[in-house]
Amino acid sequence: MKNLCRVFGNPISQSKSPLIHSLFAKQFDLDLRYDKCTDGLESFEDAVAAFFTKAGAIGANVTLPFKQRAYDYADELSPHALRSGAVNTLYKRKGIVYGDNTDGRGLVWDLKRHNIDINGLHVLLIGAGGAAQGCIPALFDAGIEKLDISNRTVEKAQQMIDQLKTNSDWNLSLFNETQKYDLIINATSLSLSRKVPEIKDEILSSAKVCYDMVYLDEPTAFMQYANRVGVEKTIDGIGMLVGQAAESFRVWFDLSPDLNTVVQALKTKGNHS
Ligand code: ATR
Repeated sequence: MKNLCRVFGNPISQSKSPLIHSLFAKQFDLDLRYDKCTDGLESFEDAVAAFFTKAGAIGANVTLPFKQRAYDYADELSPHALRSGAVNTLYKRKGIVYGDNTDGRGLVWDLKRHNIDINGLHVLLIGAGGAAQGCIPALFDAGIEKLDISNRTVEKAQQMIDQLKTNSDWNLSLFNETQKYDLIINATSLSLSRKVPEIKDEILSSAKVCYDMVYLDEPTAFMQYANRVGVEKTIDGIGMLVGQAAESFRVWFDLSPDLNTVVQALKTKGNHS
Protein backbone atom coordinates (compact mmCIF):
# COMPACT_ATOMS: atom_id res chain seq x y z
CA MET A 1 0.00 0.00 0.00
CA LYS A 2 1.15 3.53 -0.76
CA ASN A 3 2.36 5.49 2.26
CA LEU A 4 0.68 8.85 2.67
CA CYS A 5 2.14 11.94 4.35
CA ARG A 6 0.93 15.53 4.28
CA VAL A 7 2.03 18.99 5.32
CA PHE A 8 -0.43 21.39 6.95
CA GLY A 9 0.14 25.14 6.88
CA ASN A 10 -1.24 28.37 5.56
CA PRO A 11 0.10 29.59 3.19
CA ILE A 12 1.49 26.28 1.96
CA SER A 13 2.09 26.59 -1.78
CA GLN A 14 5.75 27.55 -1.18
CA SER A 15 6.50 24.45 0.92
CA LYS A 16 9.45 22.34 -0.18
CA SER A 17 8.51 19.46 2.13
CA PRO A 18 6.91 17.31 -0.60
CA LEU A 19 10.06 17.60 -2.72
CA ILE A 20 12.40 16.89 0.18
CA HIS A 21 10.44 13.84 1.34
CA SER A 22 10.16 12.47 -2.18
CA LEU A 23 13.98 12.67 -2.41
CA PHE A 24 14.29 10.83 0.92
CA ALA A 25 11.75 8.17 -0.20
CA LYS A 26 13.70 7.58 -3.42
CA GLN A 27 16.77 6.66 -1.39
CA PHE A 28 14.87 3.68 0.07
CA ASP A 29 12.58 2.82 -2.86
CA LEU A 30 9.74 3.74 -0.56
CA ASP A 31 6.35 4.19 -2.17
CA LEU A 32 5.39 7.58 -0.73
CA ARG A 33 2.84 10.17 -1.64
CA TYR A 34 3.52 13.37 0.30
CA ASP A 35 1.15 16.24 -0.46
CA LYS A 36 0.14 19.67 0.81
CA CYS A 37 -3.13 20.18 2.61
CA THR A 38 -5.00 22.84 0.71
CA ASP A 39 -8.45 22.37 2.21
CA GLY A 40 -10.14 22.61 5.58
CA LEU A 41 -7.63 25.05 7.02
CA GLU A 42 -10.31 26.98 8.85
CA SER A 43 -10.54 23.80 10.88
CA PHE A 44 -7.02 22.48 11.15
CA GLU A 45 -8.06 19.82 13.67
CA ASP A 46 -10.81 18.39 11.40
CA ALA A 47 -8.42 18.33 8.46
CA VAL A 48 -5.80 16.40 10.46
CA ALA A 49 -8.39 13.96 11.80
CA ALA A 50 -9.70 13.36 8.25
CA PHE A 51 -6.15 12.74 7.01
CA PHE A 52 -5.49 10.06 9.60
CA THR A 53 -8.63 8.13 8.57
CA LYS A 54 -7.11 7.56 5.10
CA ALA A 55 -5.66 4.18 4.22
CA GLY A 56 -1.86 4.36 4.32
CA ALA A 57 -1.74 7.64 6.29
CA ILE A 58 1.57 7.62 8.16
CA GLY A 59 2.33 11.10 9.35
CA ALA A 60 2.01 14.83 8.88
CA ASN A 61 4.19 17.89 9.12
CA VAL A 62 2.79 21.08 10.53
CA THR A 63 4.07 24.53 9.76
CA LEU A 64 2.92 28.12 10.31
CA PRO A 65 0.51 29.02 11.76
CA PHE A 66 -0.57 25.65 13.20
CA LYS A 67 2.33 24.46 15.35
CA GLN A 68 0.70 25.46 18.63
CA ARG A 69 -2.63 23.96 17.58
CA ALA A 70 -0.87 20.73 16.65
CA TYR A 71 0.66 20.76 20.15
CA ASP A 72 -2.83 21.01 21.65
CA TYR A 73 -4.20 18.39 19.23
CA ALA A 74 -1.69 15.61 19.92
CA ASP A 75 -2.65 13.00 22.53
CA GLU A 76 0.99 12.32 23.47
CA LEU A 77 3.98 14.66 23.18
CA SER A 78 7.65 13.82 22.77
CA PRO A 79 10.05 15.48 25.24
CA HIS A 80 11.16 17.84 22.43
CA ALA A 81 7.58 18.91 21.72
CA LEU A 82 6.77 19.23 25.38
CA ARG A 83 9.75 21.45 26.10
CA SER A 84 9.41 23.62 23.00
CA GLY A 85 5.64 24.11 23.26
CA ALA A 86 5.11 23.43 19.56
CA VAL A 87 4.63 20.44 17.24
CA ASN A 88 5.82 20.14 13.64
CA THR A 89 5.47 16.34 13.28
CA LEU A 90 2.36 14.21 13.88
CA TYR A 91 1.83 10.47 13.54
CA LYS A 92 -0.78 8.01 14.68
CA ARG A 93 -0.19 4.57 16.21
CA LYS A 94 -2.95 2.36 17.60
CA GLY A 95 -5.43 5.22 17.73
CA ILE A 96 -3.10 7.63 19.54
CA VAL A 97 -1.85 10.79 17.85
CA TYR A 98 1.75 11.59 18.78
CA GLY A 99 3.34 15.03 18.44
CA ASP A 100 7.06 15.73 18.07
CA ASN A 101 9.13 18.80 17.28
CA THR A 102 12.11 18.17 14.99
CA ASP A 103 13.03 21.80 14.19
CA GLY A 104 15.75 22.07 16.82
CA ARG A 105 17.34 18.76 15.84
CA GLY A 106 17.38 20.01 12.25
CA LEU A 107 19.21 23.17 13.31
CA VAL A 108 21.74 21.24 15.38
CA TRP A 109 22.40 18.82 12.51
CA ASP A 110 23.05 21.77 10.21
CA LEU A 111 25.39 23.51 12.66
CA LYS A 112 27.39 20.27 12.93
CA ARG A 113 27.37 19.92 9.15
CA HIS A 114 29.12 23.28 9.08
CA ASN A 115 31.74 21.98 11.55
CA ILE A 116 30.57 24.22 14.37
CA ASP A 117 31.50 22.91 17.79
CA ILE A 118 28.31 23.59 19.73
CA ASN A 119 29.68 22.64 23.11
CA GLY A 120 29.99 25.60 25.48
CA LEU A 121 28.76 28.22 23.03
CA HIS A 122 27.25 31.55 24.11
CA VAL A 123 24.33 32.07 21.77
CA LEU A 124 22.16 35.06 20.97
CA LEU A 125 18.75 34.13 19.59
CA ILE A 126 16.87 36.93 17.84
CA GLY A 127 13.10 36.43 17.95
CA ALA A 128 10.64 34.94 20.40
CA GLY A 129 8.09 33.26 18.13
CA GLY A 130 7.51 29.58 17.46
CA ALA A 131 10.65 29.21 15.37
CA ALA A 132 12.80 30.58 18.18
CA GLN A 133 11.19 28.54 20.93
CA GLY A 134 11.26 25.32 18.90
CA CYS A 135 15.04 25.25 18.66
CA ILE A 136 15.99 26.06 22.26
CA PRO A 137 15.74 22.58 23.85
CA ALA A 138 17.85 20.97 21.11
CA LEU A 139 20.53 23.68 21.44
CA PHE A 140 20.88 23.02 25.17
CA ASP A 141 20.78 19.24 24.57
CA ALA A 142 23.65 19.74 22.14
CA GLY A 143 25.71 21.45 24.85
CA ILE A 144 25.45 25.21 24.48
CA GLU A 145 26.42 27.00 27.67
CA LYS A 146 24.22 30.08 27.61
CA LEU A 147 21.48 31.55 25.49
CA ASP A 148 20.24 35.14 25.46
CA ILE A 149 17.08 36.19 23.67
CA SER A 150 16.51 39.49 21.93
CA ASN A 151 13.07 40.41 20.67
CA ARG A 152 11.25 43.51 19.42
CA THR A 153 8.61 42.86 22.09
CA VAL A 154 10.75 42.34 25.18
CA GLU A 155 7.84 41.09 27.32
CA LYS A 156 7.30 38.21 24.92
CA ALA A 157 10.93 37.15 25.25
CA GLN A 158 10.68 37.38 29.04
CA GLN A 159 7.50 35.24 29.02
CA MET A 160 9.23 32.62 26.90
CA ILE A 161 12.23 32.56 29.23
CA ASP A 162 10.01 32.24 32.31
CA GLN A 163 8.06 29.40 30.74
CA LEU A 164 11.17 27.48 29.62
CA LYS A 165 12.86 27.93 32.98
CA THR A 166 9.99 26.30 34.88
CA ASN A 167 11.03 22.92 33.44
CA SER A 168 14.79 23.31 33.12
CA ASP A 169 17.94 24.73 34.65
CA TRP A 170 19.06 26.23 31.36
CA ASN A 171 21.17 29.39 31.44
CA LEU A 172 18.64 31.61 29.64
CA SER A 173 18.46 35.40 29.88
CA LEU A 174 17.24 38.46 28.11
CA PHE A 175 19.65 39.99 25.61
CA ASN A 176 22.36 42.00 27.30
CA GLU A 177 24.01 44.69 25.22
CA THR A 178 27.34 44.24 26.98
CA GLN A 179 27.76 40.60 26.00
CA LYS A 180 29.61 39.08 23.11
CA TYR A 181 28.34 35.95 21.40
CA ASP A 182 29.90 32.99 19.60
CA LEU A 183 26.80 32.33 17.54
CA ILE A 184 23.91 34.64 16.62
CA ILE A 185 20.75 33.03 15.24
CA ASN A 186 18.07 35.05 13.47
CA ALA A 187 14.78 33.26 14.20
CA THR A 188 12.58 36.06 12.85
CA SER A 189 11.29 35.89 9.31
CA LEU A 190 12.46 39.46 8.58
CA SER A 191 14.81 38.30 5.83
CA LEU A 192 11.79 37.26 3.78
CA SER A 193 11.02 40.96 3.39
CA ARG A 194 14.71 41.86 2.95
CA LYS A 195 14.84 43.45 6.42
CA VAL A 196 17.25 42.90 9.29
CA PRO A 197 16.57 42.86 13.02
CA GLU A 198 17.85 45.80 15.03
CA ILE A 199 21.20 44.93 16.53
CA LYS A 200 24.31 46.99 17.08
CA ASP A 201 27.15 46.44 14.61
CA GLU A 202 29.65 45.79 17.39
CA ILE A 203 27.53 42.99 18.84
CA LEU A 204 26.94 41.37 15.47
CA SER A 205 30.57 41.70 14.46
CA SER A 206 31.71 39.94 17.64
CA ALA A 207 30.04 36.69 16.50
CA LYS A 208 32.06 33.90 14.92
CA VAL A 209 28.97 32.59 13.12
CA CYS A 210 25.62 34.13 12.14
CA TYR A 211 22.78 31.78 11.22
CA ASP A 212 19.57 32.84 9.50
CA MET A 213 16.65 30.39 9.67
CA VAL A 214 15.37 31.88 6.40
CA TYR A 215 16.80 30.67 3.08
CA LEU A 216 16.61 32.34 -0.30
CA ASP A 217 18.35 31.92 -3.63
CA GLU A 218 20.90 34.50 -2.55
CA PRO A 219 22.43 35.27 0.89
CA THR A 220 19.71 36.76 3.09
CA ALA A 221 19.69 40.40 4.23
CA PHE A 222 20.84 39.28 7.70
CA MET A 223 23.74 37.27 6.24
CA GLN A 224 24.76 40.18 4.03
CA TYR A 225 24.64 42.57 6.98
CA ALA A 226 26.71 40.19 9.10
CA ASN A 227 29.28 39.82 6.31
CA ARG A 228 29.46 43.60 5.94
CA VAL A 229 30.39 44.08 9.60
CA GLY A 230 33.05 41.37 9.36
CA VAL A 231 31.44 38.10 10.45
CA GLU A 232 33.36 35.35 8.69
CA LYS A 233 30.80 32.59 8.60
CA THR A 234 27.15 33.06 7.72
CA ILE A 235 24.69 30.24 7.10
CA ASP A 236 21.14 30.16 5.77
CA GLY A 237 18.34 27.85 6.86
CA ILE A 238 18.26 25.38 3.98
CA GLY A 239 20.15 22.73 5.93
CA MET A 240 17.87 23.18 8.93
CA LEU A 241 14.86 22.64 6.68
CA VAL A 242 16.28 19.39 5.33
CA GLY A 243 17.46 18.36 8.80
CA GLN A 244 14.07 18.77 10.45
CA ALA A 245 12.44 16.92 7.54
CA ALA A 246 14.89 14.02 7.93
CA GLU A 247 14.06 13.78 11.63
CA SER A 248 10.34 13.57 10.77
CA PHE A 249 11.08 10.91 8.14
CA ARG A 250 13.04 8.94 10.73
CA VAL A 251 10.18 9.20 13.24
CA TRP A 252 7.64 7.95 10.68
CA PHE A 253 9.63 5.24 8.87
CA ASP A 254 12.55 4.44 11.16
CA LEU A 255 14.86 5.17 8.21
CA SER A 256 17.79 7.61 8.20
CA PRO A 257 18.17 9.30 4.82
CA ASP A 258 21.34 10.88 3.51
CA LEU A 259 20.79 14.61 3.96
CA ASN A 260 23.73 16.15 2.16
CA THR A 261 22.64 14.92 -1.25
CA VAL A 262 19.18 16.41 -0.64
CA VAL A 263 20.59 19.80 0.45
CA GLN A 264 22.69 19.73 -2.70
CA ALA A 265 19.72 18.80 -4.90
CA LEU A 266 17.68 21.71 -3.51
CA LYS A 267 20.50 24.15 -4.08
CA THR A 268 21.02 22.91 -7.61
CA LYS A 269 17.37 23.34 -8.40
CA GLY A 270 17.64 26.93 -7.10
CA ASN A 271 14.47 25.99 -5.37
CA HIS A 272 14.71 28.07 -2.21
CA SER A 273 11.64 29.94 -1.12
P1 ATR B 1 7.42 32.24 14.05
O1 ATR B 1 6.45 31.28 14.65
O2 ATR B 1 7.87 31.90 12.66
O3 ATR B 1 8.59 32.50 14.92
P2 ATR B 1 6.05 34.61 14.90
O4 ATR B 1 5.51 33.90 16.07
O5 ATR B 1 5.16 35.53 14.15
O6 ATR B 1 6.61 33.59 13.81
O7 ATR B 1 7.36 35.40 15.38
C1 ATR B 1 8.04 36.19 14.54
C2 ATR B 1 9.23 36.82 15.31
O8 ATR B 1 9.74 37.83 14.45
C3 ATR B 1 8.85 37.48 16.60
O9 ATR B 1 9.93 37.40 17.49
C4 ATR B 1 8.59 38.91 16.16
O10 ATR B 1 8.76 39.88 17.17
P3 ATR B 1 7.51 40.29 18.14
O11 ATR B 1 7.44 39.21 19.17
O12 ATR B 1 7.90 41.61 18.68
O13 ATR B 1 6.31 40.34 17.26
C5 ATR B 1 9.69 39.08 15.15
N1 ATR B 1 9.37 40.15 14.20
C6 ATR B 1 8.41 40.15 13.26
N2 ATR B 1 8.42 41.31 12.58
C7 ATR B 1 9.42 42.07 13.11
C8 ATR B 1 9.96 43.37 12.84
N3 ATR B 1 9.46 44.15 11.87
N4 ATR B 1 11.00 43.80 13.60
C9 ATR B 1 11.51 43.03 14.59
N5 ATR B 1 11.06 41.79 14.88
C10 ATR B 1 10.03 41.32 14.16
